[in-house]
Amino acid sequence: MKIILTAISVFIWIIGSNAASAEDDKMQMVNHHDMNTMDTRTSLNLSAEMKQHQLTNMRAHVDAIRTIVGFIAENKFAEASKIAHIKLGLTPEMKEMCGMFEDEKFRALGMAFHKSGDDLGKVLQTGDANASLRALNKTMQYCVECHANYRQ
Ligand code: HEC
Repeated sequence: MKIILTAISVFIWIIGSNAASAEDDKMQMVNHHDMNTMDTRTSLNLSAEMKQHQLTNMRAHVDAIRTIVGFIAENKFAEASKIAHIKLGLTPEMKEMCGMFEDEKFRALGMAFHKSGDDLGKVLQTGDANASLRALNKTMQYCVECHANYRQ
């Protein structure tokens, strides 16, 4: 009798711990799901107005890249250089805009990005397509790096 009772309680314990581990698995799946949907980038805590301003600027950045690529394809290097300096370079307006952000690393990244825009402008001026594409690649690396680390 005692043996039977012991066997039953062991049986119940096994079932119980299986159920518990199934519960753990479920919890892990939920946590895993959260990890995939969570935006882990640093928030800049921007005001509604700053958000719109930044997105407008960003859309202009994509258009500048498109315009530069188009000019390179047409061998219009002087025009491409002008766009790089005016739209991507460290103009007084861009310097002021980047200086408004509280996050120091973000500011530094923004400044380095715009400096690379001026470097791109200089390389484009030489009319060397390969060197220009290399410089464009470098500038676009900043787009990628910043977007990977920051959100509004
Ligand atoms: C110093 C940081 C930084 C750099 C450099 C940068 N961006 Fe952005 N960009 C942002 C942030 C922050 C957002 C908002 C992202 C978010 O909240 O999810 C953004 C958003 C955008 C958007 C979305 C616009 C919209 O209307 O939704 C585009 C497009 C974009 N960037 C293009 C570019 C391109 C192209 C470059 C490079 C030529 C670039 N950005 C460089 C920080 C940067």
